[in-house]
Amino acid sequence: MAVIIDGKALAARLRQQIKEEVARLKEQGVHPCLAVILVGDDPASCFYVNNKEKDCAECGIKSIKYALPATTSEAELLGLIAKLNADPSVHGILVQLPLPKGLSAARVITAISPDKDVDAFHPENVGRVMQGKYTFAPCTPAGVMKLLEAYSIPVEGRECVVVGRSNIVGKPQAMLLLHANGTVTMCHSKTVNLAEITRRADILVCAVGKVNFITADMVKPGAVVIDVGMNVNDEGKLTGDVDFAAVEKIASYITPAPGGVGPMTRAMLLDNTLKAAKLAAKI
Ligand code: GUN
Repeated sequence: MAVIIDGKALAARLRQQIKEEVARLKEQGVHPCLAVILVGDDPASCFYVNNKEKDCAECGIKSIKYALPATTSEAELLGLIAKLNADPSVHGILVQLPLPKGLSAARVITAISPDKDVDAFHPENVGRVMQGKYTFAPCTPAGVMKLLEAYSIPVEGRECVVVGRSNIVGKPQAMLLLHANGTVTMCHSKTVNLAEITRRADILVCAVGKVNFITADMVKPGAVVIDVGMNVNDEGKLTGDVDFAAVEKIASYITPAPGGVGPMTRAMLLDNTLKAAKLAAKI
């Protein structure tokens, strides 16, 4: 049976460390602050934004929420971002995605100052991650790397397979594994003989968004299985992409979903906000 990677516990430890560092920064007159922009009232986005506010409060990070109507124009949104970019008391800016129809996420994200881009979605930060010289890494892939590190799971020289090629998870995840000297293969919806490739993986990261997408026959015995998926199953329960019950019998390590990668994503946003505050203060 696999060791179950406890992302919830590790995230709680990280939050405690961040809280202590925030307190030290405040003694130096630096008050970390995150601006969170929510446009419209998508229930999932509202839930995520509330969690982000709660996490910030726990760590002593100030969060300012801008809840804008779905009818907000792109010019208004860009105006708010310009104001926040220019405000030295705001260190991080996050625009919750997806945006309502008619607003260009690409244009909006590109308007955020790269130094305040705590999601690391700005093209400049994407490029830096690609080059391996970055301050901010996207929260989910960064959280996965922290989990591997915390469980002393080596990456160097190992076969890493990433399933899913999103800009937010799959692509940057592949880069971070590559920077850690993994041998990385990316798979996606057009991959032929997917199971043949996933079975090669020493470390398998799945970010597809489909219930039970990774079955036991797709996993090499002893592999490390990281489930980034967050889906609702037929019974209305939150579940990942991996057939957990079957795969935990053959993997060496596995993340549960929920309780694995999700809490780490949240913790890494706090970490990036702390980094942004230190960057602004030249600490
Ligand atoms: N929507 C879903 N995940 C994310 C995220 O990590 N950041 C932002 N800004 N929006 C999201």
